Amino acid sequence: MDSERELLISQINSLINEEIQNNPVTYNKDRPYQSYERIGFEGLRWSVEKRINEYGLDRFFNIEHNVLDIGSNFGFFVTEFALHCKEVHGIEPNHWLNTIGEITAKYLKVEDRVGFFDVFFDDFVNPIQYDVVLSLAAFFTQDKRERSEAKNYFSKIKSMLNPQGYLFYESTSYTKDKDNSHFVAKLEALDAIKENLELEKEWETPSGSEGFFRQFAIARKK
Ligand SMILES: C[S@@+](CC[C@H](N)C(=O)[O-])C[C@H]1O[C@@H](n2cnc3c(N)ncnc32)[C@H](O)[C@@H]1O
Repeated sequence: MDSERELLISQINSLINEEIQNNPVTYNKDRPYQSYERIGFEGLRWSVEKRINEYGLDRFFNIEHNVLDIGSNFGFFVTEFALHCKEVHGIEPNHWLNTIGEITAKYLKVEDRVGFFDVFFDDFVNPIQYDVVLSLAAFFTQDKRERSEAKNYFSKIKSMLNPQGYLFYESTSYTKDKDNSHFVAKLEALDAIKENLELEKEWETPSGSEGFFRQFAIARKK
């Protein structure tokens, strides 16, 4: 490992340790949440590169495009999109995670194209309009820190999109049971997406554990 990357990984690990000590609803207790092959960082979820590939997110790579990632976590989607897009913002109400995004952006030399906002999505005031908004496991979060009404959440996304701009939605993980609040949330999310935007595609895949699923949707501003 070169010394610059070694330093980055050790700084990321220290920030995660500090986050675990201070955030009672951390996602990082057992393993760090996001993974990023580009910097050799392993976590719980598939790597950002694999998720981009499996979800077909590379269709949104465009050097003219501004992108927003809601619930950006370690900021690894933000930095990866910044290698291909004009300006990329992450909303993440957790300053330790935003610092990880900032130092990773610096390491990848894209710091001039990224911005991290330490704020709840509800309180975010967009400084620019976006061509693409990513909401990846960021509506009705498992940590319970995101609990907006679906109609408010997705109409806010609509208001921040440029004409013909895209939303990419990934739900949190759920069992197909009407008592599962994450299942209900994804049904409400799909309804609100259809109300506010033009649905292009929706699909469901099994998620990590047996009996659990995730919903996906791509929609465009009319
Ligand atoms: C399950 S993680 C998903 C992270 C990332 N989007 C991904 O899919 O790899 C949910 C993220 O949303 C963040 N989050 C929680 N409440 C939020 C809110 N009200 N606004 C924005 N982000 C929030 C959490 O801190 C966490 O990083």
